[in-house]
Amino acid sequence: MAFGEMIRTGDFKGEKHVPVIEAPATVSAGTPFEVTVSVGREVPHPNTTEHFIAWIDLYFKPASGGFPFHVGRFEFMAHGESPKGPNRGPVHAHPSVTFPVQVGEAGTFVAVSMCNIHGPWESTHEVTVGG
Ligand SMILES: [Fe+2]
Repeated sequence: MAFGEMIRTGDFKGEKHVPVIEAPATVSAGTPFEVTVSVGREVPHPNTTEHFIAWIDLYFKPASGGFPFHVGRFEFMAHGESPKGPNRGPVHAHPSVTFPVQVGEAGTFVAVSMCNIHGPWESTHEVTVGG
C-alpha cells in the first residue's frame, strides 16, 4: 500500500480530524498572504496526553505540474504532560497554525494533519493568481 492511500479525508463539519484550510481564493503573484490550517474547528478533537494532533504539514502543488513543494511543518508538543501525571500539565498546544507564504503561480495547497491515534488526514485549497 502506498503512503498516499493511508491518508484519509472527509467533510470537516462532521469529521473532527480533517484539517481546515483558510486562505484567499485569489492572490497576487509575489505578494505575501496567510494560509491558516486548523483541526477540530467544527467538531473539536481531543487534546490530551494520550490523544492529540502531533503535527500539521503544508504542501503546494503548482497548477503547471511537476513535483509538490513542502512549505512547512508545525509540531505540537504540549498536551497536558506533567510530573504530576497525564493531563495535569499547565499547558496545551491547540492544533492551529498560520503559514505566511507567497506564490508565483496558481496551484493547490495540501494540508496534512497527524493524529497520534487515528493517523494522517488531508484537505486541499486551490489558489489562482490574479491581477
Ligand atoms: Fe484522533
